[in-house]
Amino acid sequence: MNKTANQMLIIFGASGDLTARKLIPAIYNLFKGNHLPENFVVLGASRSAITDGEFRRKVVQESRYLEERLTKENEDFITQFSDKLFYEDLGEDYDTDYDRLSKRIADLNNKYKTDNNYIFYLSTPPSLYEAIAKNLCDKGLTAEDDGWKRIVVEKPFGYSLASAKELNTGLHKYFQENQIYRIDHYLGKETVQNLLVTRFANSIFEPLWNRNYIHHIEITNAEEVGVEKRGGYYDKSGALRDMFQSHLLQIVSLIVMEPPISSSAEEIRNEKVKALKSLRLMTDEKVLYENTVKGQYVSSVINGEKVKGYREEEGVDPQSKTETFAAIKFFVDNWRWRDVPFYVRTAKRMPTKVTEVVIHFKTPHHQIFKEQDLNNKDNKLVIRIQPDEGILLKFGVKVPGQGFKVERANLDFYYSSLADTNVMEAYERLLLDAMQGDATLYARADEVESAWRFVDPILEYWEGGKDVNTYGYSAGTWGPENMDRLIEGEYTWRNPCERLTDDSGFCII
Ligand code: BG6
Repeated sequence: MNKTANQMLIIFGASGDLTARKLIPAIYNLFKGNHLPENFVVLGASRSAITDGEFRRKVVQESRYLEERLTKENEDFITQFSDKLFYEDLGEDYDTDYDRLSKRIADLNNKYKTDNNYIFYLSTPPSLYEAIAKNLCDKGLTAEDDGWKRIVVEKPFGYSLASAKELNTGLHKYFQENQIYRIDHYLGKETVQNLLVTRFANSIFEPLWNRNYIHHIEITNAEEVGVEKRGGYYDKSGALRDMFQSHLLQIVSLIVMEPPISSSAEEIRNEKVKALKSLRLMTDEKVLYENTVKGQYVSSVINGEKVKGYREEEGVDPQSKTETFAAIKFFVDNWRWRDVPFYVRTAKRMPTKVTEVVIHFKTPHHQIFKEQDLNNKDNKLVIRIQPDEGILLKFGVKVPGQGFKVERANLDFYYSSLADTNVMEAYERLLLDAMQGDATLYARADEVESAWRFVDPILEYWEGGKDVNTYGYSAGTWGPENMDRLIEGEYTWRNPCERLTDDSGFCII
C-alpha cells in the first residue's frame, strides 16, 4: 500500500451538493478504511456564513448521504471523524483577498501538523477556477518550496475547446501541470480501470483487439433519472457536454489506446491522448447528419405515474432544444481501428441505469455451420461498468442433437462474487490517488483538449447546422425510434437490462 503524507484538504464550494453527496462520504470511507494519514484535516470554504459545528452537522451528523453508514457506528467514532472538519466563510465572493483564509490554513497546519501539504479541491463553477488559483497564488499558497500543493478541478472542464484551452492557460499561470488533477469520476470506477487489465493482462483478448477481428464497438450509458434539480445547469450543457465529452470519451480512449510501455501515469496518459487524437473529426454537415442522433425526452406514464417531459422540468426553457439523448457513430483513423465503427450513446430517462461496452466480434471468415441469424450469434464481449459490474463473453455452442445447430452461451464474471473485497467508490479512490500524488486516473490538459476537439464540431452542428432535428422519445424508453439508423447492416443497439446476463429487449419500463 502506498504511503499517504500528512496533509490538509481545502474544499472550495463546501456548502454545495457535491461536498455533502460525494466528497465527505468519500473521506468518511477513507477514514473508516484507515487510509487517511495520521495528521489530516479538511477545511471547507464557501460563501455561506456557517460555523465549524454547523458545517459538521450539515455534512456528517445530519447528512442523508451518511445516515445509513453512521447508524452502524458509535458516537466516539463519529466525533473523531467530524472533528477533522473545519469551515471558513469566504464572504460574498470567491474572488476576494484570501488573507483570512490563508491565516486559517496556517493555523490549522501548525496545530494539526499537516506538513504544509495542501490539496485545493475546486467544487465550484469553472468560471471561478482561475480567480481562485490566482488568489491562492497571491498568498503564496501554490509554491512548493515547503510541502507540496495540488489542485483538483471538477468537470465540466470547459464548455468548448476554446474555453477548455482558456481554463488550462488560466490554471497554468499559477500551477504546474503536474500539480493539476482534473477529475473524471468514471476513471475512479473499478470497472473502467478494469478495461486496461482486460486488455493488457490477458493474452487471449489483446491479439483480437483490432480491425481483423472486431466488427464494431458499442457503448451505452443510460440513466433512469431525468435532469432532477439540475435543469438550469443541464439546459446550457446537454448530454454531449455533460457525459460524452468527459466520461464516455475517457472510456473510448481506454478501448482505443495502444499498449502503454508501463503502467505509469505519463505512459498511460500519452497513449490516451494519442487515441483521442486519432478519432476522425466530423466537420462536413452531411457526415454529421448521417452519424449523429439528437433526442430529448417527452412526458409519459411510467408504472402508472406521469413523468414530466424535459421541457417541463424546473430551470429548463420550455422551448429548449438541448439534448438529453445523444448517439454518435464515428471512426478511428489509425492502423488498429481503420473502418471499425464505434457507436456511443448516452441518455437520461431511459428504462434503467446501465453503462456497458460491447465488443462485437466478426463472424468467422468461412462459415461451416450455415444458419440464419448468424450475426446475432457472433462472439460478444460485454463489459458491464455498472450496475451488476462484471464481464460476459458470449460464444457459440452446439445444441445437443442431430446436425450442428449453434446457440449462444455465456461465460460470466461478477465483481460481487469477489467476497470480502472492498470495492472503493469512485470519489474515494480518486481522492486517495490525489492525496498520494498519483495522477494516472486524472485527465491531463492535452487529453481534455483532444476530447473537446472531437466534440466541438458536433456541438456546433447541433446548435446551428442544417437539417438538425431534436427527436422526442417517451421518458422510460430506449430513445428515439430512428436511433438504429446509425448502425450499419442488420445490427441494432443492444438494449441492456439491469442484469448483465439478461438478453436485449425493452425491459423494466
Ligand atoms: C455526472 C453528470 O458527471 O455523471 C450527471 O453530470 C450524471 O448528469 C452522472 O448523472 C452519472 O454518473 P454515474 O456515476 O451515476 O453514472
